[in-house]
Amino acid sequence: PVGLLGDALGRPLHDLRISVTDRCNFRCVYCMPKDVFDKEYQFLPHSALLTFEEITRVARQFVAHGVRKIRLTGGEPLLRKNIERLVEMLAALRTPEGEEIDLTLTTNGTLLKQKAQALKAAGLKRVTVSLDSLNDEAFRRMNDVDFPVARVLEGIDAAHAAGLGPVKINMVVKKGLNDHEILPMARHFKGTPAILRFIEYMDVGASNGWRMEEVLPSNEVVRRIAAELPLVEADPNYVGETAERWRYADGSGEIGVISSVTHAFCGDCSRARLSTEGKVYTCLFASQGHDLRGIVRNGGSDAELAGAIAQLWSHRGDRYSELRSGLQDEAAPRKVEMSYIGG
Ligand code: GTP
Ligand code: 5AD
Ligand code: SF4
Ligand code: SF4
Repeated sequence: PVGLLGDALGRPLHDLRISVTDRCNFRCVYCMPKDVFDKEYQFLPHSALLTFEEITRVARQFVAHGVRKIRLTGGEPLLRKNIERLVEMLAALRTPEGEEIDLTLTTNGTLLKQKAQALKAAGLKRVTVSLDSLNDEAFRRMNDVDFPVARVLEGIDAAHAAGLGPVKINMVVKKGLNDHEILPMARHFKGTPAILRFIEYMDVGASNGWRMEEVLPSNEVVRRIAAELPLVEADPNYVGETAERWRYADGSGEIGVISSVTHAFCGDCSRARLSTEGKVYTCLFASQGHDLRGIVRNGGSDAELAGAIAQLWSHRGDRYSELRSGLQDEAAPRKVEMSYIGG
């Protein structure tokens, strides 16, 4: 007996973001700074990771509770061995009405050229690629592992060629680091099938040393682009969309801005996050998760799993971004890292 689930603020459960690894081959300065994520850093041991069977079993219960969209994240999800196999297993899930799930993935694009076709064949619908600069030197500095931007651009092309488009491009804007790349990025992707989205630098995790002064507000992003390339506001595609959409006035595509800092969107947040080791986080800024792996590995039934999901969602009251100004508190519990829980 599974009905529509609302949380404590009446928000439905619609999205599940699954992190499949806490590892990444990049060390983006705003996400996995090298001085924290160094040789000594303790990543999760293999035995802690949910297996593909375990992930699929948990995801099936989420789908029974209303989830219609699943996004695979990391770390870098394409580093997980045989990820195509997991895509295939999740693509086979059906809603109670017999519909397919919107199955997507967020990647840094480094392995996309090799994997795009296999991912498409396995049933992936779309991909989102993180890309913070087109300037090779700046890009190498931001990923901090000297990775060339050309390989990521080839990955985006490969995704389009494989039918994984339109590809969404996520650019995190950090003032003074890459804000001069806003216009070059806009010009580059204007008139292509890709949809570029600018993300305000956020205070996720406890490692990136976030400061408000380093946030470039999205209205400034829009202002800078519109001064050269006129924009008109567009309606959201669906309730609870993270990005606000803007169309080029000349009809050559659209951009988006994701403004978690200056224009919080918690009011419609329908996203649950499943960590690599099987904990559910009901907010990107949570410090604690709800363990499902224990249920799965200790012989728990599907009914127990379903009960745990219903319980944790119905008690959910998170709205961190809306409260942010009041939460800059040194004594607050340590927030989970973005590389652990995914974007
Ligand atoms: P689409 O329907 O494909 O557009 O999905 P989406 O908008 O969820 O896209 P995506 O997963 O690419 O999210 C883009 C970025 O928005 C993430 O990488 C995060 O930086 C940010 N984001 C996504 N969900 C949340 C959220 O619930 N809270 C906050 N604060 N930021 C979020
Ligand atoms: N602020 C905003 N976005 C971030 N991402 C990672 N760390 C941050 C941060 N501190 C983005 C990545 C990627 C997605 C997974 O989240 O660039 O697009
Ligand atoms: Fe890796 Fe993405 Fe974090 Fe960069 S933002 S370090 S690519 S997980
Ligand atoms: Fe959802 Fe938390 Fe992000 Fe608000 S801050 S939109 S509640 S994940």
